[in-house]
Amino acid sequence: MTEPGQLERPVWQTGQIGGETRVVVPDVEGPVLSEEARGLAERIAARYPRRRSALVPLLYLVQAEAGWVPRQGMREVAEILGITTAEVEAVATFYTMLKLHPSGKYVLSVCTNPSCALLGGKRLYERAKEILGDQSEHVTEDGLFTLEEEECLAACDKAPVLAVNYVFYDKVSEEQLGEMISEIREGRVPEASRGGVPGDLREVSRTLAGLTERSENGQPDRVGQPAGSGLREGPAERRDEGDQTTGPSGAEGSPRSEQPPGAEESPRSEEPPGARGAEDG
Ligand code: FES
Repeated sequence: MTEPGQLERPVWQTGQIGGETRVVVPDVEGPVLSEEARGLAERIAARYPRRRSALVPLLYLVQAEAGWVPRQGMREVAEILGITTAEVEAVATFYTMLKLHPSGKYVLSVCTNPSCALLGGKRLYERAKEILGDQSEHVTEDGLFTLEEEECLAACDKAPVLAVNYVFYDKVSEEQLGEMISEIREGRVPEASRGGVPGDLREVSRTLAGLTERSENGQPDRVGQPAGSGLREGPAERRDEGDQTTGPSGAEGSPRSEQPPGAEESPRSEEPPGARGAEDG
């Protein structure tokens, strides 16, 4: 695990876009993956016939280590897999569950698409922003929350829906939202609507990387064991409504656009698509 504090302050590269100086690429100095994490990365890569197929799990490993996916982490993944940084970046920028900026321990995703919007989803999002402050779309000052306005979460019959680290809470009222935020601030993450309690973003990312929870002696579990769900046990079991809404089951997450990146499965050519003119550090 990366040393505490090592990655607390991202390095912000600035550039001239439209004549203004603005943040363009958040990054960190120094290695993101510890020696231990690199060992896990090698073992994850060894699961696949082609090493490059481990790209998404390794990006989640970076997120588990750093709490987000800085460009330095992408460079390290590229080096481990023997592909270009441009190829890694093409995939990392596609999936919204890979966070490309420092993020809170708990990502609140509020659906504001029609079914949810008609039943208060938009107002729920605005209320969350009021409670958490303008910084919450990036990360709150206490480091606890990142707020996202989300597209349809495919639980329209449970509208309005919000997710905490991709675990769903159904038919949430503004009052319930306030209570949820207060409880998380007090260190008590409420049980999800269909059971379980979401872990923090690093824990969930570790699961999505294909790693199980740490064993009792604090050592990482063996790669190759089935991954957990990213959920802790909740106080009550209410799974009788089905189990289709715990987001992390599909490791890739939602695409940022409709255009597939094409980097993961397309055969490598002499000059990979998208590599020209892009950083390949
Ligand atoms: S519109 Fe919100 S879950 Fe589908």
